[in-house]
Amino acid sequence: MTQPNMDTFVSLCKRRGFVFQSSEIYGGIGGFWDYGPLGVELKNNIKRNWWRAMVQLRDDVVGIETSIVMNPRVWEASGHIQTFADPMVDCKSCKHRFRTDDLLPVADASAPGRCPDCGGELTESRMFNLMFKTFVGPVEGDASTVYLRPETAQGMFVNFENVLTTTRRKLPFGIAQIGRSFRNEITPGNFIFRDREFEQMEMEFFVMPGTDEEWHDRWIEDRFNWWTGLGVRKDTLRIREHTKEELSHYSKRTVDIEYDFPFGCFSEVEGIANRTDFDLKQHEQFAGRTLRYFDEASNQQIVPYVIEPAMGVDRCFLTVLIDAYAEEEVRGEKRVLLRLPHELAPIKVAVLPLSRNEQLVPPARRVLDLVRPQFMTQYDDAQSIGRRYRRQDEIGTPFGVTIDFETLEDEAVTIRERDSMEQTRVPITKLVPVLRERLPG
Ligand code: GAP
Repeated sequence: MTQPNMDTFVSLCKRRGFVFQSSEIYGGIGGFWDYGPLGVELKNNIKRNWWRAMVQLRDDVVGIETSIVMNPRVWEASGHIQTFADPMVDCKSCKHRFRTDDLLPVADASAPGRCPDCGGELTESRMFNLMFKTFVGPVEGDASTVYLRPETAQGMFVNFENVLTTTRRKLPFGIAQIGRSFRNEITPGNFIFRDREFEQMEMEFFVMPGTDEEWHDRWIEDRFNWWTGLGVRKDTLRIREHTKEELSHYSKRTVDIEYDFPFGCFSEVEGIANRTDFDLKQHEQFAGRTLRYFDEASNQQIVPYVIEPAMGVDRCFLTVLIDAYAEEEVRGEKRVLLRLPHELAPIKVAVLPLSRNEQLVPPARRVLDLVRPQFMTQYDDAQSIGRRYRRQDEIGTPFGVTIDFETLEDEAVTIRERDSMEQTRVPITKLVPVLRERLPG
């Protein structure tokens, strides 16, 4: 398998309409991205796949959707106001800002040194909170300050009681959510890997204290299998244990699933943390409410422990696209293709009349009308058929359906498969069932 270099890959994403820079006509804005016509399809398919695995196919997890702006006390309780910060320095001359960690060993807090961009003097290192602030209501000031959530997780914790009473769940059970999060990252970068606005898919799994370590191991295995089930090659993934120093303030043990990205190293795509009873206890204290579960076996009110698999949609998007990228030599020509699993492919079927000859238009339109209600379909009649196949290969379309002059005689069409390029002739009347068999779901 070929891994693309990042420039080639970023240019494919833009050229084919997967990802654009946000507000590009104004010069863009660092750490924000827009998803194009193909990008939004891929993203939706990833989210649908996660939701199916985490909610639909399980009887111990329910989904919710909570607001991005929450009562600011939530972030006091969660520890984000005090601890969700990175050390940074500013250049006194060019005003550029750097993460202190990125300048090490050149700089440390006591001797920050000189700016790598202009050689100017740097300020001392200080902590920079990563939460975006805004104001609610017409008056700006401390009393109206709120934050854009930096994780979706707190939406689950503050709704623990609502979900428990409305669904009458027994432990263990989980609450899942997909939604936007915001972090004012000091150094966003590596394309869509580190963003300031991104989407998370998180699940808080509430368990009896004492069973947490076992559940943690089970979730690590489950989540790793989800990634490989998505078609990501096993040898490009690894599991890495957090050291004591890097553990978040709420975590007893965290394991990251990492992918071997072409920008040089294995990097986190998902974290699976044992958050203990930290969050529920903090909210009990800050909200002045009991957030407990009544355990009938021991006749006691207990605060559950929490196992949290947390991942980013954008990072998953980057991973599956990079992993699906392939270059092949076909009859002396280079073919670029995305070997995306069928369920993730943005377009499932391309309807391709052999040429723009007007005789081919009615049968091609008829085929389109049959296929389009069933599968995400693209109709393409521009340029040679060979070029159109290449275009579909490059966006990962699993099947092309070609309408040619024989179709006028035999009422049959050719299905071409993306990876093998194998071609099969099928009667139009059988087309949808044949495609359905090869494109389940
Ligand atoms: N609730 C726990 C939590 O948010 P995290 O490790 O900070 O944990 C979870 O984030 C996942 O969210 C990461 O594994 C990553 O996939 C994604 N993520 C975090 N920060 C991101 C960023 N700045 N840009 C894109 N994705 C990000």
